[in-house]
Amino acid sequence: MRTVVITGGTSGIGAGLARQLLASGHRVVAIGSSAANGAALQAEAVRQGSADRLAFRQVDLGSIARTTELAAEIRARYDTVDALVLCAGRYHPSRGETGEGLERTFALYVLNRFLLPELLHEPLSRADRPVVLNLCGTGGIRAGKIHWDDLQLRRRYGGLRATMQGARANDLLGVAFAARHRGSGIRYVLYNPLFVDTGLAEPFRQPTRSLVKLLARLFAARVEQITPPLLGLLADPPAAPLSAFRRGVPVDLGRPEFDRETALRLHRVLAGLVPERAG
Ligand SMILES: NC(=O)c1ccc[n+]([C@@H]2O[C@H](COP(=O)([O-])OP(=O)(O)OC[C@H]3O[C@@H](n4cnc5c(N)ncnc54)[C@H](OP(=O)(O)O)[C@@H]3O)[C@@H](O)[C@H]2O)c1
Repeated sequence: MRTVVITGGTSGIGAGLARQLLASGHRVVAIGSSAANGAALQAEAVRQGSADRLAFRQVDLGSIARTTELAAEIRARYDTVDALVLCAGRYHPSRGETGEGLERTFALYVLNRFLLPELLHEPLSRADRPVVLNLCGTGGIRAGKIHWDDLQLRRRYGGLRATMQGARANDLLGVAFAARHRGSGIRYVLYNPLFVDTGLAEPFRQPTRSLVKLLARLFAARVEQITPPLLGLLADPPAAPLSAFRRGVPVDLGRPEFDRETALRLHRVLAGLVPERAG
């Protein structure tokens, strides 16, 4: 039985993975910010007979303090974590800040995904073939750019601009993690599932919401279609410390988005934003 921690494990792709892993006899720690989504997953686990292997934690992962507490709880409770799946995300059409004064997309999509693998690297490194699987926008989308002088987009915010910056930052997070933890045996996998029919439309106002829903129904893959290769990567991660895929097709890590010096620069900037980082 493997222990898999899934951020955003209560809906969409994360929940799809959680259900499959529970059905296959594994232990899942699912994290989300809404109690209702967590309760729904727990009810499914009761019906499936796997409730004793599911732990739901209601945590706002946009908060550095809550993320640090969560990681401490996981480290205390589980000696070994076999896999960390990073799925938590939310599209914010307008700019807003967390209680800690950070822009919301940056806090959740960049800072949380920087922090959690670092905070859990000890229990991960005790596992046999440990893996961090980051569901993100890898694959050379040109629109994505790191705004070094305005990472939190105070001057010019746009939901897409913030998300695309997050996509580029996540490529660099993978590069920096693999470089810094080379000897740990932890494999880092960046995975872009492309268009998947999940709760994607919810944050938009009408009529955009209905349009996104329609487009998703017509053109997006269903969660059940994209989970098998992800489960394969969790069970048998690639041998390389870092790999990247766009819906199963390998992405060339020689592309400029994966520049090592830029990745280490971002790592230093993010580390400087976190007051007391454990791990
Ligand atoms: N779907 C796509 O087309 C697509 C395409 C490319 C990449 N991706 C990547 O795949 C990831 C998963 O996508 P998805 O479509 O499955 O997303 P989703 O259905 O919107 O699910 C997002 C998950 O994140 C959780 N979450 C949101 N804000 C949170 C917070 N502040 N604290 C804790 N949990 C939070 C949500 O739970 P609560 O609501 O309970 O907070 C939910 O479980 C995305 O983040 C993105 O990086 C998706």
